[in-house]
Amino acid sequence: MTPFIVMDVLERAHEMERQGIHVIHLEVGEPDFDTPRCIKEAACKALDNGHTHYTHSLGMLELREAISEHYYATYGTTVDPDQIVVSSGTSPAMFVMFSALLEKGDQVIVSDPHYACYPNFIRFVQGEPVFVPVFEEDGFQYRPEAIEKKITRKTKGIFINSPSNPTGNLLSKERMTAIADLAASASPYIISDEIYHGLVYEGKEHSILEFTRKAFVFNGFSKLYAMTGLRLGYMIAPKDFIRPIQKIQQNFFISANAMVQVAGITALKKAGKDILEMKQIYNQRRQYMIQRLKGMGFGITVEPTGAFYVFANAKHLSGDSYKLAFDILEKAHVGVAPGIDFGQNGEGYLRFSYAASMENIAEGMDRLENYLKMNQDS
Ligand SMILES: Cc1ncc(COP(=O)(O)O)c(C=O)c1O
Repeated sequence: MTPFIVMDVLERAHEMERQGIHVIHLEVGEPDFDTPRCIKEAACKALDNGHTHYTHSLGMLELREAISEHYYATYGTTVDPDQIVVSSGTSPAMFVMFSALLEKGDQVIVSDPHYACYPNFIRFVQGEPVFVPVFEEDGFQYRPEAIEKKITRKTKGIFINSPSNPTGNLLSKERMTAIADLAASASPYIISDEIYHGLVYEGKEHSILEFTRKAFVFNGFSKLYAMTGLRLGYMIAPKDFIRPIQKIQQNFFISANAMVQVAGITALKKAGKDILEMKQIYNQRRQYMIQRLKGMGFGITVEPTGAFYVFANAKHLSGDSYKLAFDILEKAHVGVAPGIDFGQNGEGYLRFSYAASMENIAEGMDRLENYLKMNQDS
């Protein structure tokens, strides 16, 4: 199990804060917005209404129906509520799904860079992540032919994540179609992490279900609805996997939190206006951050248009992103995530999160600019 390095940065930042140092946090991947009021009210009301008991192990039917309606309204895809498994965040859904899918030695193709936790979910159930490098000049999109070359008899899954953490980039419809075709002609399933869906500022995100039914989808409420601490997520799985998945869920987790499931229904049905407001603010921050980082000489070849991250090339400053991130923290008092946290191919990059107030982003950028000037002078 590899550590989540960004948490090391965060912990050092907290230590500095305890010493009275003011740190700007651009390292964390969680919305700075409070959970929309209508969702919080629904959660409180659910408690009063007695939603304090176990629910169906797959999740409340009303929530699964709302998720199914959401997928139909957004992507035009039909999802049977019985294909949906609700969990306490997307992360437990990944654990359950990989436990059901993989036997010892089975392989899953993962992009490099990738969300830091993916390989650990795979290795924990004795699977093997097989990395396919993705490149800045392609906007960190997979080259489908590179995936094809890595497919063996043992390949059980191809992991996609669009918009992506850490790059903030989207996979084009053409490349998604080509990747879906790989699942049709060979053994692997497509495993699509759609947790940043809805947070897209230019272009359009697509669900893998628009291209193939041979897929597992992960999604959740943490990012779009600013509900990280409430823990609610779900998976959409092929029907023949539901019973094995359900057995794992029943044994290890029983069910997701009842009152948060009720709040999830409200999120899907009533939080549209709140989301739009958050999205507009994220977009302003995104544009500002890209412009400031480019102005300082960071490489951003294809501008990120989704999630809330900018993955900037800092190779001109250092080939060691871990050292660089800690140096920026110590000297400029700005927390950033080192690219190496997201895979070998992420080395030399820094991930900046704009899930922070505009005021803090501006201050963080000013501090970074001074840090670079100081480095140039010395
Ligand atoms: C790509 C990606 N997938 C999954 C997760 C986990 O989300 P959850 O809070 O639903 O467990 C994160 C959290 O940062 C993420 O960035």
